[in-house]
Amino acid sequence: MSKRSFLTRAVHAGEYGSGHHGAVSFPVYNASVFRFENADEAFEIHNHHKHGFYYGRLGNPTQEALEFTVAELENAESSLAFSSGMAAVSAAVMTVAGAGDHVIALSSMYSTTTSLLKHLASQFGLEVSFIDGTDASNYEAAIRPNTKLLWLETPSNPVLNITDIKAVAEIARAHGITTIADNTFATPYNQNPIDLGVDAVIHSATKYLGGHSDLTAGMLAGNRDLVEKARMETTRYFGGNIAPQVAWLLMRGIKTLALRMRQHNDNAYAIAHMLADHNKVTAVHYPGLDSHPGHETAKQQMRGYGGMVAFDVGGGNEGKAFVNGLRLCAIATSLGGVETIVQHSASMTHAGLSKDERERAGIPDGLLRLSVGIEDPDDLIEDIAQALEGI
Ligand SMILES: Cc1ncc(COP(=O)(O)O)c(C=O)c1O
Repeated sequence: MSKRSFLTRAVHAGEYGSGHHGAVSFPVYNASVFRFENADEAFEIHNHHKHGFYYGRLGNPTQEALEFTVAELENAESSLAFSSGMAAVSAAVMTVAGAGDHVIALSSMYSTTTSLLKHLASQFGLEVSFIDGTDASNYEAAIRPNTKLLWLETPSNPVLNITDIKAVAEIARAHGITTIADNTFATPYNQNPIDLGVDAVIHSATKYLGGHSDLTAGMLAGNRDLVEKARMETTRYFGGNIAPQVAWLLMRGIKTLALRMRQHNDNAYAIAHMLADHNKVTAVHYPGLDSHPGHETAKQQMRGYGGMVAFDVGGGNEGKAFVNGLRLCAIATSLGGVETIVQHSASMTHAGLSKDERERAGIPDGLLRLSVGIEDPDDLIEDIAQALEGI
């Protein structure tokens, strides 16, 4: 049977198995310990000869229903849920690479992933190179004999750079190297990196998968060996497992992912075009714009361009004046929720860097990152336009 459409899978993927008294919403199993029928069963489940649950850090039925859902939506063999996106990122990296191994990642990407890799390099003997991933050949040029992992993030946070996923996956395969893509910005509604050849994806599920700015979670989805190694090593040793209530809330969010993403995509597309035509805006970064350097690649690998837009208003004072002038959009640091939020990077996430360091990281002082929500686009455009007029 052919795979059902994304809309259908987002609603039904978590319904598995029988029982649960026919509950239509998968129950929350508030249990950290699971009882065995007898010693033989204890042996079998505990030693993974038989499927089952025994201890909360290593799995729970509600968590498993969530993992099944995300694996379905990412076309992955297997999936593992975490307490945050960074728990998923760190587990993914440490599952694939250790002391003496080399990882290639992006010079412009989510800043805490950058910090994690630098930390693993300075404290735990990992070798790391940061490259410009807008040209896939930069990955190949940076490969060393000990390279174990190519890390992708496309579109990237915060400036929406695009990496050609298929090209990087082909380079990696030719060298026997693992590829992992952070698919947080795109979501599986817009992009499935595994279909394009990567071994696994991670998500900050705190963002679009949850979708309501009310939970913190992370997901890893990919080939079974990689995911199960993560479960039995990083999650077992470091923890970072998701709580059952959060797993349930995340599954509830995912049921409307397709509907929300349609509106995020449409709203961001409209706003990016409005910003591109505005005289107070010096640059707009949105992969759906013809002028975006990664537009042709995005068109190939994405079904929609997502809800994130970055733009420059020319300077730090202008950036602050813009956020202060907003009436509807909130000033906040996260993204992916139903409500529109805006971040002025130079006075928020990147305030700790010098102006020079920010420039080098591709974060000019006038950069604003907009997480476009699902409100009426006319209301959003009116708010953004009046805040721009005020700077
Ligand atoms: C692209 C990306 N990856 C990973 C993370 C980390 O996720 P979390 O904050 O859920 O730990 C974030 C958070 O902003 C992100 O934007």
